[in-house]
Amino acid sequence: MEKKNIDWSNLGFGYIPTEYRYVSNYKNGTWDEGALTTDSTVVINECAGVLQYAQTVFEGLKAYTTEDGRIVTFRPDLNAARLESSALRLEMPAFPQDRFVDAVTQLVKANAAYVPPYGSGATLYIRPYIFGTNPVIGVKPADEYQFRVFCTPVGPYFKGGVRPLTIRVCDFDRAAPHGTGHIKAGLNYAMSLHAIVTAHQEGYDENMYLDAATRTKVEETGGANFLFVTKDNKVVTPKSPTILPSITRRSLVHVAKEYLGLEVEEREIYVSELKDMAECGLCGTAAVISPVGKIVDHGTEICFPSGMSQMGPITKKLYDTLTGIQMGRLEAPEGWIHVIE
Ligand code: PLP
Ligand code: COI
Repeated sequence: MEKKNIDWSNLGFGYIPTEYRYVSNYKNGTWDEGALTTDSTVVINECAGVLQYAQTVFEGLKAYTTEDGRIVTFRPDLNAARLESSALRLEMPAFPQDRFVDAVTQLVKANAAYVPPYGSGATLYIRPYIFGTNPVIGVKPADEYQFRVFCTPVGPYFKGGVRPLTIRVCDFDRAAPHGTGHIKAGLNYAMSLHAIVTAHQEGYDENMYLDAATRTKVEETGGANFLFVTKDNKVVTPKSPTILPSITRRSLVHVAKEYLGLEVEEREIYVSELKDMAECGLCGTAAVISPVGKIVDHGTEICFPSGMSQMGPITKKLYDTLTGIQMGRLEAPEGWIHVIE
């Protein structure tokens, strides 16, 4: 199979349409059998539930070319399970988890020419989502839905590639106690748009959201969880019922303990502790692990000893081990790598 003529090494994180997408529709209480299509447009009624009341949930995962030339995805079963919990929270029908993995597999296989080559620094980002399609004008769930998966080749999420970021402690909240912060719903991201636009205007790469109830604890950013390293090399990551249960973070906790022999704490982290941390990183499918060099808390700069020119040493080890597993350079734990072809 011949790869598309794309400048893989200079890709940013943007949308480039590929040839195929997967679609299944839900009507009268069941999902149809689903199929690949080349049609990248969605035609829905002007009053569709997704347009009026933001009834949409999504996922994000990647396909990688491994060192030995296979195409694989990373823990797609966990994305399938999380999409189900997101859907149920918004009163949407779950898409069967085995069918989710099958749809992703079919999609990636059909678009194999768009999977970036090994060593290019790019990957194929896969975006599964479900949205309400039939007219809804009173506030209630839709009766009809579409499950769709498209994919797009991507480079690094943050402009300039892997470089230490500067983030600010944000005065806006992303998620309410007992709200929807723990699911991957479009509405959470709409909430964050004003905050990210103003952060960029002020020269920051991202926002650090705090817990909305007390505004004393670290939650996450608009698109990634946090990981910190203490001065005695412990990996510490926030535990909160209002953040997204990141698959990357859960994987890194395992990698830190089982591959690197590090002590890991998943616990509440207070803003007041940040000044004592040695390293900080953002972790997620899109972010992979993006190092943070500086956090600005209302004019007070917290500069991590790892500096603004490179990743901290433990963050680097975590990054190398995780990407080594994803790209087939290191042996993966049982069930983590799903081979497409
Ligand atoms: N937190 C938020 C708000 C996200 O959007 C994402 C991205 O999916 C993550 C964390 C990281 O999750 P994952 O590692 O499963 O991609
Ligand atoms: C992902 O990492 O898959 C996400 O959905 C984050 C988003 C900000 C691109």
